[in-house]
Amino acid sequence: IVSSIKLFESVDSTQNIAHRLAEEGAPSGTLVIAEQQTSGRGRMGRQWVSPSGKGIYMSMVLRPDLPLQFAPQLTLLTAVALCRALKEIAPLPIGIKWPNDLLIEGKKISGILLESAAEDERLRHVIMGIGISVNLTEDDYPEELLPIATSLRIASGGEPLDRAAVIASFMKQFEHLYAVYISQGFSPIQTLWEALSVTLHKPTKLMTPQGVVEGIPVALNDSGALLVRLGDGREMPIFSAESMRPP
Ligand code: BTN
Repeated sequence: IVSSIKLFESVDSTQNIAHRLAEEGAPSGTLVIAEQQTSGRGRMGRQWVSPSGKGIYMSMVLRPDLPLQFAPQLTLLTAVALCRALKEIAPLPIGIKWPNDLLIEGKKISGILLESAAEDERLRHVIMGIGISVNLTEDDYPEELLPIATSLRIASGGEPLDRAAVIASFMKQFEHLYAVYISQGFSPIQTLWEALSVTLHKPTKLMTPQGVVEGIPVALNDSGALLVRLGDGREMPIFSAESMRPP
């Protein structure tokens, strides 16, 4: 699935490099990897801590022949692939918090940022950005992140892990699941996501663009939205939320 790998010592954000390469015509599967990012970014305009040599910071150009509304499904597929890959590398209780954060015991270990460019309601290209906190130690995080962030190294007892093995494992999982998705559609991915989720069946309060929603997430729907059961029994599809936490 990888067509070429571009390795950088330091970049502002691998997302920016991958977007530029895509605009210049880079083929699907072009993978940008950096040792360090000076302005790594997360969802909702947040920053992504990217110290040199400690984490995995990568962005891949994808050119799926799909309508724009399928982008959320790709995000969920990426989360499943990443979760399975990390569990293969380190036998830890890693779960997916909707839509695509990976957590170990409530602390974030990895994040996914899918940015897409569309034309006539079809995806022109997608930049799949992945940050994995592999070998960061407590000293690498600003104090305010310590209660909510961890790394594979911290969570597995302190020994550094091989970042190349993590990337290889992810690519293997992603390639497999992508083939399943193209041949069988979203339904098998949905089932896998639900089984790995730490979000479902727990009372939750979500800050959505439409306001605060309180209820119990019960499933994903066919488009990848989170179905939340409200107090009156209705199920509301949530497409994006700023934050979610126990009420
Ligand atoms: C999130 O959890 O909010 C998403 C984090 C995504 C971080 C990765 S690191 C590689 C790529 N380049 C970036 O600037 N961001 C993504």
